[in-house]
Amino acid sequence: MRIIFTDTYKKMSEEAAKIIAGQLWIKPNSVLGLATGSTPVELYQNLVWLYKTVGLDFSQATSFNLDEYVGLAEDDPQSYHRFMHENLFDHVNIRKDHVFFPNGLTADSVAEGERYEATITAAGGIDMQLLGIGRNAHIGFNEPANAFTRMTHKVALKESTIAANARFFASQDDVPREAMSMGIGTIFRARHIVLLASGAEKAEAVRDAVMGAITPTVPASILQLHPSVTLIVDQEAGTLLKAEKSDS
Ligand code: GLP
Repeated sequence: MRIIFTDTYKKMSEEAAKIIAGQLWIKPNSVLGLATGSTPVELYQNLVWLYKTVGLDFSQATSFNLDEYVGLAEDDPQSYHRFMHENLFDHVNIRKDHVFFPNGLTADSVAEGERYEATITAAGGIDMQLLGIGRNAHIGFNEPANAFTRMTHKVALKESTIAANARFFASQDDVPREAMSMGIGTIFRARHIVLLASGAEKAEAVRDAVMGAITPTVPASILQLHPSVTLIVDQEAGTLLKAEKSDS
């Protein structure tokens, strides 16, 4: 795993934009795996800026989002579908028929998981997967569990995740209790992975993911086994990595 230490959220977002833009420059028809949450917001702003100023081209790109809440319509203000349109897709030249999400309104989550996996495979697999990390080290919506999940599936969200994500909703009661998420296997099959972490509340999750045991109770720890991961941390999220480094 390559780790890029940055001082600020702004710098973290710039480093991430360089990597995603580099991927698109080298391979304009890249298949990107994209993430939601507050962490990638400024990265997306940087990509929009690069599109507008120097013509970063998304016209041949395809994207697959990590996850979507169960029960929210595509146009719901809190849906991840809407988030991606507002933060990226509506501002760049990606084709609207080249953006994919798991369907959170499906009546058959198993069939939906299979459909999503087949769509990713038909697109040639994910070239570069962007990830944030939850405070409990979840990636996508893969919560701490007894086993790593292989495929896109329906998950029950942990209370801690519901509480953490309540800031985007009118009240905690409004946060959906379930989501459709790429599995750990889906994420792992990406050719490159870029993991972003910002803020002190992510420092323990980052330390456990990078330096702890590889275990499904720390979902992001599986990334230690992936051949091409770049972790970009800001000063606060990287604090415990640096503390361990200087102790050893
Ligand atoms: C949600 C998303 C994750 C994201 C995580 C952290 O649970 N499903 O993909 O990484 O939140 O979000 P934030 O970046 O807002 O801390």
